[in-house]
Amino acid sequence: MSTYKELLFDRSFVNGKWTNQGTGKFDVKNPFDLSVIGQVHDEDRTFVGKAIDVAHAAFRSWKSKSAKERSAILLKWFDLIHQHKDELAQIMTLESGKPLAESKGEIDYGAAYIQWFAEEAKRNYGDVIPGFTADKRIITLKEPVGVVGAITPWNFPLAMITRKIAPALAVGCTVVVRPSEETPFTALAINYLADLAGFPKGVYNTVVGTDPSEMGKELCENKKVAKISFTGSTKVGKILMSQSANTLKKLSLELGGNAPLIVFDDADVDLAIKGALGGKFRFGGQTCVCVNRILVQEGIHDLFVEKFTAAVKKMKLGSGLDTDVNIGPLINQRAIRRMEEMTEDAIAKGGKVLTGGKAVAPQFFEPTIIIDANESMEFAQNEIFGPIAPIFKFKTEQDAIRMANDTVYGLASYFFTNDLNRSWRVREQLEYGIVGINEGLISSEVVPFGGVKESGQGREGSKYGLDSYVDIKYVCIGGVL
Ligand code: SIN
Repeated sequence: MSTYKELLFDRSFVNGKWTNQGTGKFDVKNPFDLSVIGQVHDEDRTFVGKAIDVAHAAFRSWKSKSAKERSAILLKWFDLIHQHKDELAQIMTLESGKPLAESKGEIDYGAAYIQWFAEEAKRNYGDVIPGFTADKRIITLKEPVGVVGAITPWNFPLAMITRKIAPALAVGCTVVVRPSEETPFTALAINYLADLAGFPKGVYNTVVGTDPSEMGKELCENKKVAKISFTGSTKVGKILMSQSANTLKKLSLELGGNAPLIVFDDADVDLAIKGALGGKFRFGGQTCVCVNRILVQEGIHDLFVEKFTAAVKKMKLGSGLDTDVNIGPLINQRAIRRMEEMTEDAIAKGGKVLTGGKAVAPQFFEPTIIIDANESMEFAQNEIFGPIAPIFKFKTEQDAIRMANDTVYGLASYFFTNDLNRSWRVREQLEYGIVGINEGLISSEVVPFGGVKESGQGREGSKYGLDSYVDIKYVCIGGVL
């Protein structure tokens, strides 16, 4: 493969081939300069229904393969993704705006889920349970749930797909992926590589279109789908949950966050700055584990603010393809407007902008620090999903814990301290699925990723990641005398 263009495909992949139903197409734009990267056929709800039929028909034979056979195909897919890392990174950067180094990092991260679950699926063990009478023998088996609908976001065009479908495919489920219409090219390119790796027809399908609500509705309401795995907003997660109620689908929901990062007086300030920079500005703040609120204790506040501001002022905005750029464009104009509104709201309520605070044409927002943040400001309760870092001052440990937990969300949280006892106390009281202590970057295929409260349900990655894609079947053998 010589150029990324050879990995750009313009239609959905269903039943082992490039397929379109209608003739309508939509533009996929580069958020850096709003130029058109290419067009893709725009499919609707009925098309999704057909892809589900195909995945359903393919299920029986895929699940009958041995774990070892499935694993070998997954590992081949993993290798192909690595072989095409440069082209995939370029596609990802073009359609998402992500700096190239981060795109390459995402490819390593996303591919790692494939390798991990290719191995884990071989250890999808059941149990032998002592019989409850002398003539009984009891075993449990873990069986694939069936067809999985994966609904994935634009902020991780590759990793959010592999994190969901690698465990599903590894245990014998078949999948229909509905990627974001902002980033379809990465999704189609990896489906192509999966086809080269040898997945049988109908096992892995990708449907692309611009009507997420109708496409999602089909996945949720169709009886042939056993499970939905979704990453996106809490608002949409709730809609999908209610649409899935009638068929009692299994659900994995990885939803919004409002991550606090707490810096205690006893913290190593340089480590805290490093954590805050990584945790806040990864992909320009557009991840659901990105730091939303920085809470700094009064004794270290001024030093932290001074050093953090100096570091943020050095960040460079620009095209993700330029290697010295740290912050690319935001995904769309709605995101820019949201940054402007949050900044205006904070200023009106007493916040002071120390750096940044403005949109830059066509689709950038400067990395921004707002001090004197308070709990009446919009970002105290709502996810920013952009490069604004609000700093709240606090007095006591109990204040920090109360402020950190004062949200409906419970995905990621972070804190910095050198006090061993405090590290245990605070960790125990944070109402979050993920806690980073003296660390701002917590994602990996080996860990269980997921939230509590309105941040969702289920865990992705790690030894727990297979659980969401299997049913436990209990078998009782009687009359054994
Ligand atoms: C997300 O933003 O949805 C995922 C972030 C991650 O995997 O680190």
